[in-house]
Amino acid sequence: MLTDQLGRPLRDLRISVTDRCNLRCTYCMPAEVFGADYAFLPRAELLSFEEIERLARAFVELGVRKLRLTGGEPTLRRDLPDLVARLARIGGVQDIAMTTNGLLLPRFAADLKAAGLDRVTVSIDSLDPEVFGRMNGLGQHPQKVVDGIEAALAAGLGVKINTVVQRGVNDDGLRELWLALRDLAPLRFIEFMDVGNHNGWNMDSVVPSGEVLARLGGEAGAAAFAPRAASYRGEVAARHVDAAGHEVGLISSVTAPFCGDCSRARLSAVGVLYTCLFAGSGTDLRAPLRAGASDAELREQVAGVWAARRDRYSEERGEITRAGTRAKVEMSHIGG
Ligand code: GTP
Ligand code: 5AD
Ligand code: SF4
Ligand code: SF4
Repeated sequence: MLTDQLGRPLRDLRISVTDRCNLRCTYCMPAEVFGADYAFLPRAELLSFEEIERLARAFVELGVRKLRLTGGEPTLRRDLPDLVARLARIGGVQDIAMTTNGLLLPRFAADLKAAGLDRVTVSIDSLDPEVFGRMNGLGQHPQKVVDGIEAALAAGLGVKINTVVQRGVNDDGLRELWLALRDLAPLRFIEFMDVGNHNGWNMDSVVPSGEVLARLGGEAGAAAFAPRAASYRGEVAARHVDAAGHEVGLISSVTAPFCGDCSRARLSAVGVLYTCLFAGSGTDLRAPLRAGASDAELREQVAGVWAARRDRYSEERGEITRAGTRAKVEMSHIGG
């Protein structure tokens, strides 16, 4: 079996299909940076669906079992269900998911499900219109996201909900969000991370997951929850469940890094392979693809990159941050 330098197999592939988004979340694509004159990728630069399918097949032959579509906002990519249908035909793929802000799900959920999408993870950070409007940078109302979640459920898609927690920004409303949405789908609370180069991250704005759980439990605090075993090896979220069976996941990349089991590769919309969310650079797979490389050659190139991999950024964050910042790939290029 193919493993990297730390013995980790290649299991998941996250595929970014566009660098564009219809929101401007302050922690991801702040409007001051990603403004009207921001140069997004021209269409010819993006991998075509044929190219994505060929690369995905190479990854699946090397051990990948889970595919996840990301962006930017993946639903902005034209004809996305056609890509899902191509990926669903690849033998050996067990799970096809998509991370989305949910705004376009009322329009596309049924088509995506029919094409073979298994599930979506929808991001929503607050139910307070003012707080959410500020965080998404465009004043969008949280009800539009809730409508998207409901559309996904109605279409028969599996649903999880992601909430990024920032101290002093949305941490007051976490329990309200949990109480309102926990009957719809499992919620996962994510520690604010220092991804990309523009979100002004610092440790003071991180609410440790332990504190999040205590807040969700109300008067009972964290004791309202019991831990649940991971549903698969390398699961990013640590799951907990309350007495009524509502599940909450805690994604603690800052206070409890999970690099030891990290089996994820990331492919950008232009075909660059990154072996870590915090990578400074990656490996261009589009050039060999467009130069006529054979399937075997593509597979060998990916295998070589994975075999050499040593990434464990979250575990080294302290040392790296103290040594000064270094440029990282943008979240909108690899979709988290
Ligand atoms: P499931 O397959 O449902 O378990 O989804 P997932 O948690 O792998 O994917 P999702 O896109 O919902 O990611 C949730 C959060 O975890 C996002 O903020 C991601 O950026 C973050 N995340 C996912 N994978 C990694 C990783 O390898 N390292 C770090 N540091 N964060 C990650
Ligand atoms: N820290 C933590 N999570 C983030 N996301 C985007 N930027 C950050 C960040 N700086 C989340 C999105 C989405 C997931 C893929 O990553 O909200 O839910
Ligand atoms: Fe768009 Fe998601 Fe980034 Fe928000 S977090 S700007 S919805 S890609
Ligand atoms: Fe994997 Fe990098 Fe995240 Fe660690 S920081 S879990 S190596 S993507």
